[in-house]
Amino acid sequence: MKVFTTTREVQQYLAELRSKGLSTGFVATMGALHHGHLSLIAQAKRANDIVICSIFVNPTQFNDPADLEKYPRPIAHDTQMLEQAGCDILFNPPVSELYADNEHWHLALGEIEHLLEGEFRPGHYQGVTQVVYKLFNIIKPDTAYFGQKDYQQFMVITKMVELLDLPVKLIMCPIIREEDGLAMSSRNIHLTVEDRLHSLILSKTLNWVKQNFDRNNIAGLQIKAADAINAEDGVSLEYFELTDADTLQPASPHTKSVVALVAARVGKTRLIDNVLMN
Ligand code: PAF
Repeated sequence: MKVFTTTREVQQYLAELRSKGLSTGFVATMGALHHGHLSLIAQAKRANDIVICSIFVNPTQFNDPADLEKYPRPIAHDTQMLEQAGCDILFNPPVSELYADNEHWHLALGEIEHLLEGEFRPGHYQGVTQVVYKLFNIIKPDTAYFGQKDYQQFMVITKMVELLDLPVKLIMCPIIREEDGLAMSSRNIHLTVEDRLHSLILSKTLNWVKQNFDRNNIAGLQIKAADAINAEDGVSLEYFELTDADTLQPASPHTKSVVALVAARVGKTRLIDNVLMN
């Protein structure tokens, strides 16, 4: 695997590969890799000649400096995992390589930016689109792969690609779960043994809602789900919502595709998860 830390070098190398007509698949990450990330690499490998992964803990998408500070950065282990997964190129720039001082970014993403995650993490999606735009511009991938776990992020990036007419195809890949149902996340390492047990209420409740899904009882399902999560020790619910899978607006009995999305603090760790109803 080739490892690059500068934009100039990775661009030069990729230009050579593209001139040979090779297709490129891209997986953007913030590191602390787990099997969820590896599944994105695997999916990219199946469909492309060259797979590029970026590891960059993007400061502009954190609204809590303490969260940015404590974000795990096990780069040696990550590099080894990517080698084993057959990734061809790792782009791992320092912050100074991607950001100039006092840079300004604002994209008119519309309402989707302020819903759900946007309400609890103001400015988060401006930071995500800012860095993903930069990475797309540098890597110029044919296809980029993102996980369904960050469902709203996928929608927001799709919106950015549409607004800026970027020549990249986006693929959403399924959530990878631990055997007991917990959605894999880089943040899971912060869970204590107790938190880990309590965290299962999220996937259990999502599954219960899927099994009992009734488009004529959306409000009732939401209330029951919120009650179940609130009743769990050590878990503080931020939202549990059934929404239109395309717009993230509240679902109604007429909504074609519905997604249930949840965010909660489990101990000191903030977790998100979701399940498509149909
Ligand atoms: O999903 C993530 O890990 C990040 O939000 C991303 C897409 C790599 C942008 O920093």
